[in-house]
Order: sequence, then structure tokens, then C-alpha cells
Amino acid sequence: MPAPAQGHYRSGLAPEQDTTTFELDGGLTDAQPDFELEALVAEPALGPAQTELWLPDTDPEHPQPSPQLELDGMAPPLYHIRLDDGREARFQHAANLLSSLEAQNIDVHFQCREGYCGSCRAQLLDGEVHYAEEPMAWLNEGEILLCCCIPRSNLHIRLQD
Ligand code: FES
Repeated sequence: MPAPAQGHYRSGLAPEQDTTTFELDGGLTDAQPDFELEALVAEPALGPAQTELWLPDTDPEHPQPSPQLELDGMAPPLYHIRLDDGREARFQHAANLLSSLEAQNIDVHFQCREGYCGSCRAQLLDGEVHYAEEPMAWLNEGEILLCCCIPRSNLHIRLQD
């Protein structure tokens, strides 16, 4: 009687490591089984895990005036941001004041970008800002969180040193 056919379960291991075998018997010696055995091929080694670079979802400010976006037939208002050290910026398209300043090469301290840590606090010397959601970080009188506010008027601000 011929030796029973042998197969390997597809385990993903190299053949020499794969000790899982099974035998086909019970009269299948001449006839082909009605299923196909997986080819005994080692799975290709997986490369280093692919990692996606996560970038915050921002809509950067345009450093120079650009064609105005139309929102319901109205262009978003353009606000001027004046820093107490003499630098100037503009706000029109960004998602928040922090993103706007960064896009205009003005460095601002930040960590969470979500209103929790307070790292992005700045002194509001003049003007008005709007928060879509009330920030969690503690704010002293006259302070604003750049990461979660947008201007409601032209602003005069002092960044942290
Ligand atoms: S970066 Fe954390 S509160 Fe703005």
C-alpha cells in the first residue's frame, strides 16, 4: 500500500518550522482529493511595519493675500494680527489662530493643539476672539488660547517668550 499523502496546513511558518502535518488516508491514495492543498511555500517575510505620518488637519493661512474664497456668496473676513514685537500677520482661511501664525512663519509654543494644556496661551492686548468650544485650559484675564480660537476682529497680541 502506498504511503498516505501528506500536507501542511498553511501556517505562515517556514516549512522546516511548520510541524503541523496531516495525512490523507481512507482510500484517497490514487484519487485526487476534492480540495487543493496549499502549496508549501514560505510566506514572504513581512517588512518593517508601515507607519503613516500623521499631520494635524489644518487649513494653513496664505502668507500673501490670495483670491478670496466664496462662502455662501461672501468672502471670509480678513483680520490683521499685530504682535507686540512689531511683526504682523493676517487671518482669513486658517482653522485657528495658531495654524495661521505658523503658516506665516511665526513660531508659537504649543503641545496638545486642543485647548487642554495651555501651552499656546497668549496675551490679548486688543480685539476679540471666538472659541468654537470653550477651552479646558485655565486662562487668566486677558489670555487667549491660539490653538482653538479665531479672530472676531483685528487683534493685537503678545506671544509667550
Ligand atoms: S496647544 Fe494646548 S491648549 Fe493650545
